[in-house]
Amino acid sequence: MTARLFIDGQWVAPVSGETFDVIDPGKGKPFAEVARAGAADVDLAVKAARRAFDEGPWPKLSFAERGAVLRKMAALISDRIDELAELEVRDNGKPLPEARWDIEDVVGCFEYYADMAEGFASEQSQPVSVGADDFTSRVRKEPLGVVGAIVPWNFPMLMAAWKVAPALAAGCTVVLKPSEVTPMTALVYGEIAEAAGLPAGALNILTGFGPEVGAPLSEHPLVDKVAFTGSVPTGSKIMQAAAQDVKTISLELGGKSPFIVFADSDLEAAVEWIMFGIFWNQGEVCSATSRVLVEREMYEPLLERLSAECAKLKIGYGMDEDVLLGAIVNEAQHRKILAAIESGKESGARLVCGGKAPAHLSEGYYLEATIFADVPTDASIWKEEIFGPVVCINPFDSEAEALREANDSEFGLGAAVMSKDLERCDRVAEGLRAGIVWINCSQPTFIEVPWGGYKRSGIGRELGRWGFEAYLETKQITSYHGGPWGWYIKG
Ligand code: NAI
Ligand code: MG
Repeated sequence: MTARLFIDGQWVAPVSGETFDVIDPGKGKPFAEVARAGAADVDLAVKAARRAFDEGPWPKLSFAERGAVLRKMAALISDRIDELAELEVRDNGKPLPEARWDIEDVVGCFEYYADMAEGFASEQSQPVSVGADDFTSRVRKEPLGVVGAIVPWNFPMLMAAWKVAPALAAGCTVVLKPSEVTPMTALVYGEIAEAAGLPAGALNILTGFGPEVGAPLSEHPLVDKVAFTGSVPTGSKIMQAAAQDVKTISLELGGKSPFIVFADSDLEAAVEWIMFGIFWNQGEVCSATSRVLVEREMYEPLLERLSAECAKLKIGYGMDEDVLLGAIVNEAQHRKILAAIESGKESGARLVCGGKAPAHLSEGYYLEATIFADVPTDASIWKEEIFGPVVCINPFDSEAEALREANDSEFGLGAAVMSKDLERCDRVAEGLRAGIVWINCSQPTFIEVPWGGYKRSGIGRELGRWGFEAYLETKQITSYHGGPWGWYIKG
């Protein structure tokens, strides 16, 4: 089953017949083989999704009927949580409890959009007063069409859920392309779709590489929208490809999120949330708070406590007990992070702890929890996304300085602020140029609230109501209730 693509409700071999290896980064070895799709498969999948949209039952069902199918999908995924969490660990390298969270959140996401679809009927067709006698108008929401969903490797099944669940709930049809680095759990959506009775073509799944699948998918003229999470350079390419046919896009492109810690904060809480903000999921998190600004009085004591805690962090295979830092997703990313660490050392920043692969692990792609302090603000480690367990920490002397430093970035996805003074927290939160601001914590993510970034961190919002409407078109239906209007036909 795994060396197949899911197109038009069928498990099919790719046109080329080719496959590629899937690597377990915790062992540095292949553990599965999947189909290597190409442009010809993209064309078949997009045409299947197009037919399913134009002629199929899916977009014509009521919101409530679609909601019921999503609810079934949620239940079927929920039945397989243990198996799917383990598959995610092997494919991505993350610790098992974090993988379980991911899959539980996938279930929650399908349930949430099932509820939203079921509740939406009552809001459909809102009358809008047009202020003119003899005219009435109403606004109707309709599914946007065929969606190309291109997702990354850091939360493989969950990032797909954030797109697939609201898109299907809205009545769209989807071609899903997982990252070539972590294709395994995406394929399971095909089995779930079949078992839940999703009509053929409503969800199609193509495993393969960016240039061979992602590019032709984002260029395909029969695709109405591309929903993407990943790097800025790829997001930019997708935007250019989408421009050709004026497709709708949503882009979630990561960042270099700041975390401002005032000296009145509880030291232990600061240590906890700074660590969670950068070491959760090995720091391979788009919203990771990778730039920490600490008020000077607390700066050295905090660095000391952080490096003591980092020394205790258990690094190892994601399936092993008590592991908090799993493997980096692949060799290329491991190399990229090590290069960033080297550039940090060269920049003159102080390496407080970590900075290398742990000596006790001989296979797989592991890294120590790494802290840089006193980082020059023009250094690339301060400015560019590293996407690994590497945090940069600098001191500040005033609220205004902290806010200025925090906002001095090309990115604006996440940001966090910590202080016992809640008025100050609110003031700083409102001054931060970012789509997601956490007060007295970092990273907790709730499906009800919008997710997305300012500036180069992207375009559009996922999750909540916003992530549902992103898959709906808006139509006005305006009626005239009088006789001849009297413009051409007088009398
Ligand atoms: P990427 O942005 O190239 O990959 C994301 C997805 O886009 C994958 O499914 C990939 O196959 C696809 N893709 C690649 N080239 C494409 C193209 N020309 N057209 C359409 N789709 C294409 O990211 P990659 O190379 O896996 O990681 C590189 C860096 O990106 C990381 O080091 C990290 O800094 C950042 N990243 C950010 C993520 C986020 O959540 N914001 C997630 C993953 C990576
Ligand atoms: Mg893998």
